[in-house]
Amino acid sequence: MHLIVTKDSDEIANLLSKIVIGLVNQKSNAVLGLATGSSPIATYKLLIEDHQTNKTDWSNVSTFNLDEYVGLQQENHNSYHYFMEEQLFKHLNIKKANIHIPNGLGDVKQNATEYEKLISEHQQIDFQILGIGSNGHIGFNEPGSDVKSVTRVVELSKETIQANKRFFASSQDTVPTQAITMGIATILKAKNIVLIATGKNKAEAVKALVQGKVSEKWPCSYLQNHPSVLILADQAAASLLEQKS
Ligand code: GLP
Repeated sequence: MHLIVTKDSDEIANLLSKIVIGLVNQKSNAVLGLATGSSPIATYKLLIEDHQTNKTDWSNVSTFNLDEYVGLQQENHNSYHYFMEEQLFKHLNIKKANIHIPNGLGDVKQNATEYEKLISEHQQIDFQILGIGSNGHIGFNEPGSDVKSVTRVVELSKETIQANKRFFASSQDTVPTQAITMGIATILKAKNIVLIATGKNKAEAVKALVQGKVSEKWPCSYLQNHPSVLILADQAAASLLEQKS
């Protein structure tokens, strides 16, 4: 596990966008694992700017998103389908057929099983981007998630529902209580993983991730078992780390 502590979130976006652009330029059919939430937005903006300026070609790239809420229509402004379309996909020349996001409508259990199958039958994810919840969740793998878990329907914790309320503030909807998420085992199958963390409210989770004991209490700590993980944390998110790292 490698850790880079940056001075702020802009530096994280700069570093991460450069890594992704480098990968896409070097491997035109790269497979990316993508995350939602506020953390990756600045990175996605830089990917869009680069595509507009340097014409980086996304036509053979495929993507797999980590998660989706259960019960929101894709056009709902709070769905992760909508988020990804607005924040990234509609600005790139990526093919619709190459974009994969779990389907949170209909028979969601079956959808989760099919999503896991799709990932396992596809070429390996080259580069998985992760954010982190203040309770240490990755994707929507909440505390208590098993290391062997695969894509499945999960109940969101009170803490996560509370944290994600801010996105729903301007709509009539309440935060869904369930989601479909790639499992821990699904995430750990990626070739390379980068986790980004900004702000003081992530400091405890970052400490558990980097210096804690591997435990289901902090799902992020399972990343310690992966051979290629890079953590990009700003100073606030890294503020509880002991000097040894
Ligand atoms: C959400 C997502 C996660 C994300 C996390 C952090 O619940 N499911 O994939 O990493 O919350 O979000 P933010 O970046 O907004 O703090």
